Amino acid sequence: AHVWRGVLREYADRLGVTDASTVVTLGEGGTPLIPAPALSQRTGADVYVKFEGMNPTGSFKDRGMTVALSRAVEHGAKAVICASTGNTSASAAAYAAHAGITAAVLVPEGKIAMGKLSQAVIHGGRLIQIRGNFDDCLEIARELADNYPVHLVNSVNPDRIEGQKTAAYEVVSQLGDAPDFHFIPVGNAGNYTAYTRGYREEAERGVSTRVPRMFGFQAEGSAPLVRGEVVKNPETVASAIRIGNPASWQLALEARDATDGWFGAISDDRILAAQKLLAGTVGVFVEPGSAISVAGLLDRAEAGVIPAGAKVVLTVTGHGLKDPQWALRNADGSEVTPTVVDASTSEVASVLDLA
Ligand code: F0G
Repeated sequence: AHVWRGVLREYADRLGVTDASTVVTLGEGGTPLIPAPALSQRTGADVYVKFEGMNPTGSFKDRGMTVALSRAVEHGAKAVICASTGNTSASAAAYAAHAGITAAVLVPEGKIAMGKLSQAVIHGGRLIQIRGNFDDCLEIARELADNYPVHLVNSVNPDRIEGQKTAAYEVVSQLGDAPDFHFIPVGNAGNYTAYTRGYREEAERGVSTRVPRMFGFQAEGSAPLVRGEVVKNPETVASAIRIGNPASWQLALEARDATDGWFGAISDDRILAAQKLLAGTVGVFVEPGSAISVAGLLDRAEAGVIPAGAKVVLTVTGHGLKDPQWALRNADGSEVTPTVVDASTSEVASVLDLA
């Protein structure tokens, strides 16, 4: 059996690994592409889910972080810094811990999910909550990296995009070709840019016959790319993509135009409904920011944009366990209350309608 060695070693020829000894890896990548018959049935397309929650820290960030941390160590960095809505901070803290260096992480106060906060703390990150939003955090992180001996590991660092494009390589290999459409959440648009690059490389190499139309989605209250202007006070339940001024704005527009792509906005209610649908019918639990890919597919299928039988891949970027609070809420906002009965077989049988 093939033993997966992490994206830098698996794709050494493509990512230009010079010195295998400085590779900082937790075995990221190699995530499943899961057929989603329930979504296929609903939309008429042939739908697959690329489950990036299966990475070591539970999100796609690990693909880029292995490259960013390996390069940082190669250059002798003693500390890395990032701004984050949660997942980048979890990943940076874990990879920095593995490398034996410091990660400073700047997050918006009270606006990141508990699972992600826990990860940054347990991995020994120097966690600082900023009274501001993600965009404020990124500005400060960039200024610090410009003026002090700390290495920036946000996706404005090209090493991050290089690592993240490997997910597109994997999809092509798992599917036997690139899909017709690729649906993906958009915050800073780094990952949207990375997949586009990965797909284009595979087509140029002749490994795939097409580049998919790249469809990116933002939450309605946080949709600068859809509105065409910066959103000053972005709001959404999808805290991962609560970003008003995407760092890769220009690259994302280029990628959209080159792939006949699209940016759409989705309401929080539809994001949460899609999260529940994916978990309940496909068996994949993702955080709200990831479920927007599913909501986006339903939206575009309703709009009649997806031809019957089209091959569609949805990237779901982060694991549901990072931000589980939404699972325990009913659609009307009330709390889910598990049934409690006495320790009696007949009572359980009766509650389960078995008797
Ligand atoms: N999905 C999840 C779960 C994310 O955490 C992010 C970004 C995205 C999608 C969007 O990716 O920014 O490349 O467009 N999270 C960053 C963070 C901002 O700090 O963890 P993008």
